[in-house]
Amino acid sequence: MKPSHRQYAPATTGLKLLMFTICLFQFMNEFTSLAQLLPVEEVEALQTIASRLQYSDWQVARNSCSGGGRLNITYSLNSQNLVRFGSNVTCTCNTTECHITHIQLKGLNVTGVLPEEFANLTFLEEIDLSRNYINGSIPARFGELPLTILSLLGNRISGPIPSEIGDIATLEELVLEDNLLDGQLPSNLGRARSLRRILLSANNFTGTVPESFGNLTNLTDFRIDGNTLSGRMPSFIGNWTRLTRLDWQGTSMEGPIPSTISLLTNLTELRITDLTGPSSTFPDLRNMTSMTRLHLRNCMLTGSIPDYIGQMTRLQNLDLSFNMLDGQVPDSIGRVSFATVFLNNNSLSGNIPAWAFVGNRKMLVIPHP
Ligand SMILES: *[C@@H]1O[C@H](CO)[C@@H](O)[C@H](O)[C@H]1NC(C)=O
Ligand SMILES: *[C@@H]1O[C@H](CO)[C@@H](O)[C@H](O)[C@H]1NC(C)=O
Ligand SMILES: *[C@@H]1O[C@H](CO)[C@@H](O)[C@H](O)[C@H]1NC(C)=O
Ligand SMILES: *[C@@H]1O[C@H](CO)[C@@H](O)[C@H](O)[C@H]1NC(C)=O
Ligand SMILES: *[C@@H]1O[C@H](CO)[C@@H](O)[C@H](O)[C@H]1NC(C)=O
Ligand SMILES: *[C@@H]1O[C@H](CO)[C@@H](O)[C@H](O)[C@H]1NC(C)=O
Ligand SMILES: *[C@@H]1O[C@H](CO)[C@@H](O)[C@H](O)[C@H]1NC(C)=O
Ligand SMILES: *[C@@H]1O[C@H](CO)[C@@H](O)[C@H](O)[C@H]1NC(C)=O
Ligand SMILES: *[C@@H]1O[C@H](CO)[C@@H](O)[C@H](O)[C@H]1NC(C)=O
Ligand SMILES: *[C@@H]1O[C@H](CO)[C@@H](O)[C@H](O)[C@H]1NC(C)=O
Ligand SMILES: *[C@@H]1O[C@H](CO)[C@@H](O)[C@H](O)[C@H]1NC(C)=O
Ligand SMILES: *[C@@H]1O[C@H](CO)[C@@H](O)[C@H](O)[C@H]1NC(C)=O
Repeated sequence: MKPSHRQYAPATTGLKLLMFTICLFQFMNEFTSLAQLLPVEEVEALQTIASRLQYSDWQVARNSCSGGGRLNITYSLNSQNLVRFGSNVTCTCNTTECHITHIQLKGLNVTGVLPEEFANLTFLEEIDLSRNYINGSIPARFGELPLTILSLLGNRISGPIPSEIGDIATLEELVLEDNLLDGQLPSNLGRARSLRRILLSANNFTGTVPESFGNLTNLTDFRIDGNTLSGRMPSFIGNWTRLTRLDWQGTSMEGPIPSTISLLTNLTELRITDLTGPSSTFPDLRNMTSMTRLHLRNCMLTGSIPDYIGQMTRLQNLDLSFNMLDGQVPDSIGRVSFATVFLNNNSLSGNIPAWAFVGNRKMLVIPHP
């Protein structure tokens, strides 16, 4: 019997071993699927960022993302259901690993120098630090990140835009309005072909808008108000056929408004002001039937106001003041239910249209009832 026992014993042991192995495997499987951990480097980077910005509400650890994608969300929404202020840090996990992919830290009055350590979060797709008091400059290393959104709107960031930002092939939104940025716009930015929004207003950029920007044919929104630029308004803006909003106010650039603007038929908001000479006639905007806001103030425009403005039935605000427009105000314009119309400081003649609120003969400011 011993031999048979002996024969049997290894069999049970083998079976037990097999079962144990299966259990262990299942346990490990279970364990690993629960253990979705952030890499140590990302934890350290986020801790360093928090300390540099003196922001104390992220208590980040390796398991901060387990069991859900969100690290910490505390926010207050505005009337359009957008985050007005708050923190929203999002992770993306597979069965074993997590990575920080989105960081929004908005309107929290955060101070400090813009931390270069964001570049250590190598899976980061969004940095949105809108409306804080962050200073310092944009680190060139941000160009290594797979960003789709970089928004530093309304801070105290200074220095130039590093040309490396143009290396971010995934970048769709570059929102840098209302900072202290200066220098020339990097030509390399024209390589970031995914860009849909470039918002640069209210900074101190100089030089021209690089020719390479003509390659950014996915742009829907371009704003560059209040920078002191030089040269002529470029004709390559005609490449931006998807554009719905163009803000180009107070840049000191030379006119005329390029004729290629007539190709931008999806524009709903067009604001160009304060061009220096030479003078030109009114640009051809006849196919821009979705226009809601049209401001061409102080652009050295001559000739008459085109009749087709009256076919822009969605027009709310029209400002053609401080030009050299002459002739009569077309009757067709009276059919549009404007909120405001500014036609003052031109050389318009004839009777003041019946629809106008009459204040000054050359100043038609019409508040709609
Ligand atoms: C960020 O990455 C750099 C370079 O890889 C490294 O030297 C540094 O220690 C990292 N910093 C943090 C806070 O992880
Ligand atoms: C999230 O933020 C709140 C403060 O807004 C803080 O009290 C809480 O500890 C944070 N939670 C985590 C997990 O970081
Ligand atoms: C938080 O961020 C994620 C990723 O960008 C986004 O999907 C989500 O809508 C955000 N939450 C709020 C309230 O904005
Ligand atoms: C999880 O993602 C990491 C890279 O972040 C990868 O190395 C790993 O193989 C992935 N694991 C699974 C199970 O997909
Ligand atoms: C930021 O500062 C402003 C002005 O001091 C204050 O009104 C606002 O409540 C502050 N916001 C937060 C989130 O602390
Ligand atoms: C940046 O802001 C901090 C305070 O948040 C200040 O101590 C520092 O001097 C500022 N640096 C620059 C270059 O303005
Ligand atoms: C341009 O936009 C279209 C549609 O949104 C998209 O399919 C395409 O990939 C974009 N091109 C680039 C270079 O990102
Ligand atoms: C903008 O640049 C001009 C000329 O370089 C300089 O005089 C001015 O102080 C700058 N403004 C700001 C807000 O940095
Ligand atoms: C636009 O893109 C084409 C193709 O990639 C390139 O050859 C050309 O140099 C670019 N134009 C400018 C002005 O950078
Ligand atoms: C953009 O415009 C430039 C100059 O106007 C032209 O040479 C170029 O071919 C255009 N690029 C695209 C992609 O349409
Ligand atoms: C203009 O807008 C229409 C309607 O939204 C859209 O179908 C069309 O593709 C747009 N044209 C361009 C060039 O983006
Ligand atoms: C306006 O659209 C019409 C019809 O599509 C077209 O024939 C005409 O050339 C366009 N005009 C301009 C200035 O783009």
